[in-house]
Amino acid sequence: RALERCVSIEDLHRLAKRRLPAPMFEYLRGGAEDERALRNNCEAFSRVQLIPNTMRDVSRVDTSTHVLGSDIAMPLLLGPVGYAGMFHHEREIGAAAAADKHKTFYSLATWGSSTPEEIGVASAAPKMMQLYIPADRERAYALVDRAKAAGFTALCVTVDTPVQGSREQAWRMGMPPPARMPLSSYLSILGHPQWLFNFIKNRPIAGVSLFDHPPSPQEMMEAGPAKDLSFDDITRLRERWDGPLAIKGVLSTQDARLAVEHGATAIILSNHGGRQFDAAPAPIDLLPAVVDAVGERAEIIVDGGIRRGVDVLKAIALGATACMIGRPYVYGLAAGGQAGVERALQILKDELERNMVLMGVTRIADVDGRFLYPMRGSVD
Ligand code: FNR
Repeated sequence: RALERCVSIEDLHRLAKRRLPAPMFEYLRGGAEDERALRNNCEAFSRVQLIPNTMRDVSRVDTSTHVLGSDIAMPLLLGPVGYAGMFHHEREIGAAAAADKHKTFYSLATWGSSTPEEIGVASAAPKMMQLYIPADRERAYALVDRAKAAGFTALCVTVDTPVQGSREQAWRMGMPPPARMPLSSYLSILGHPQWLFNFIKNRPIAGVSLFDHPPSPQEMMEAGPAKDLSFDDITRLRERWDGPLAIKGVLSTQDARLAVEHGATAIILSNHGGRQFDAAPAPIDLLPAVVDAVGERAEIIVDGGIRRGVDVLKAIALGATACMIGRPYVYGLAAGGQAGVERALQILKDELERNMVLMGVTRIADVDGRFLYPMRGSVD
């Protein structure tokens, strides 16, 4: 099968490109404006190098770790990706089931095409609900209550989206709805009959968690992230949610500190995969400064540009608690539904293990700044 021939995330990316109509693929792949942040997110990882140790006993390697109040099998979480039903008819449910198999976090997006209840059934592994807080705060609070009842163990509030980044290439193709599609987009959709058949049969709807009916474009606009979001919103959320609370989309050390002071237990250092502010640096480059600013007071999860298991080790060496991925697993989803996400996770897990062996470490806790090149501080 095509999935089994995929041995890297890049292979899944190529397969996803074949299986998806061009506008849907572009919506998934693309970034904002000139895509500088998107490119730099990946390039930044190639600037981080690790010095391996040899002749250590690496006959047993353990990738498990603890983050957001839960034990998971590897320090790699599936991040929130809205409207996954657009990429494959197994949608968020398939992705969550794959996370369950690999015993790691699945994050459900507010603008997902599945409900918290569906995800609660799909995965017994730890789960995180992603919140966009709209102008009507009660809408967000209601979602928090539903997520809690459905067994979600952590919450993340995405704060980098007061307005949509301009994903120009996707816009040209008429994405996301309700933008008008040019003829070439319709032709590409018609050229992918299997995707089209499944899409029509399943009719996924974005934002199903926020409405009990298919939302109109007007309702979707009104329920979008509030422009007047403030740190006080984090304090108010804290009064309703006593579990792990992550703030996603923080980049500055000042925001990281304030987030912690207002009750966050974790920072998700992220530029939204280069889809929002195109001048943003790569999260991995900001990591050491944010680790310094926050210290032991909060966990730090990094996302953006992780395409290899070794990228996770680089982030951990720089002080991250764990990493998160978006596109890599959704390429898997688009390529083959749940099986494709499982493949993506297996590829990354195998890479993680192999590179730990090559580094001479057997536990995630042993990966630290001593492996960084150039050497920082004293090396024993
Ligand atoms: C996202 N991301 C995202 N984040 C979020 O908080 N809420 C959301 O609804 C979405 N939706 C979304 C859709 C698509 C198609 C993509 C690619 C991404 C951002 C996501 O959670 C994560 O921060 C990035 O994807 C990480 O970068 P990589 O792994 O894609 O490089």
